[in-house]
Amino acid sequence: MRQAGRYLPGYRAIRKTHNIKEMCQSSDLSVEIMSEPIRMMDLDAAIVFSDIMLPAEGMGFNLEFKEGIGPIMGNAYKFNKTLDGIIPFERKNYIYPITETIKKFKEKNPGTPIIGFSGGPITIMSYLINGSPDKDLHYTKDTLLNEPKKFFELMRMITQMIIDYCKLQISSGVDAIQIFDSWAGFFSPYSFKSNVAPFLSEITSEIKSSSVPLIYFSTGTAGLLYELRDLEFDFLSIDWRIRLSKVRKTIGDDIGLQGNLDPFIASSNMEEALKETKNILADIDYRNRYVFNLGHGVLPSTDPNTLKEIVDVVHSVK
Ligand code: CP3
Repeated sequence: MRQAGRYLPGYRAIRKTHNIKEMCQSSDLSVEIMSEPIRMMDLDAAIVFSDIMLPAEGMGFNLEFKEGIGPIMGNAYKFNKTLDGIIPFERKNYIYPITETIKKFKEKNPGTPIIGFSGGPITIMSYLINGSPDKDLHYTKDTLLNEPKKFFELMRMITQMIIDYCKLQISSGVDAIQIFDSWAGFFSPYSFKSNVAPFLSEITSEIKSSSVPLIYFSTGTAGLLYELRDLEFDFLSIDWRIRLSKVRKTIGDDIGLQGNLDPFIASSNMEEALKETKNILADIDYRNRYVFNLGHGVLPSTDPNTLKEIVDVVHSVK
């Protein structure tokens, strides 16, 4: 989760002369960016360097990244209240060389698995209709509640895009797919089940046959565990607000779990971060079908040495 990002010196050096879209347009730069954390730490997998919002350009959205804010869309639904000019995603309209990036990385790092990814439907939706980060998802939920026809029309298009974009990465050679649906935790369990879960089920049923593991990441989902359990993801990534043993008790043993170190602790104090890592490992009882990870993205202020030490503690568990 932002395993390759601003906390790394090599990333910052490249970022000085390139913006994120330029970085993703060059497969050589993307491979270099993906490789830096792998060289530096004993990590078990690399993640494709890209961003969840880039495929939206292939649907006709004008995307920019604004320093300190994130993705900005000048022609988001909110501004003109129409989906005119928005088209179904097609690979030929997607300008980023993701296949080449995956293949080049594999050639250079034959032993390192690659995680491919897409944004999740509700998280992509929130940016496409609000045009910028939607605080507490208020505009997104307001559109769902008061303009459901338009909301679901766009949700269907986003879902098709996610399915196609994941299939593209799977056919290019990724070893797992993670769906980053960061903001799903803003929904009530009832609304999530009726309005979001059906789109996620469509994604899992379309991609399941590809036989790579599917991971669902979100935050603030401790109240949505029954709804998440029923989605047919192979793994659920859970944030730091709940013990993983409690999640395990609630959802049973069949689904794998990922998480759940608080990224702020990782950025703030190495000793406390190592203590917290040990607490998490003891709580999950070092089970199978468990992937250690942060509960959200690495913060730019994180010391890479802290992450390196955390990885070593995780790997010292037999
Ligand atoms: O290393 C990796 O994790 C792979 C690459 C990756 C990026 N974004 C690169 C990136 C991944 C998996 C993402 C996911 C992503 N992007 C999510 C879901 C996960 C999450 O963090 O909640 C979301 C919501 C986005 C949208 C997005 N992109 C935001 C909100 C921002 C600004 C964040 C910030 O800290 O400034 C981005 C920009 C972005 N995407 C950066 C990176 C490395 C920072 C770019 C920079 O300024 O250098």
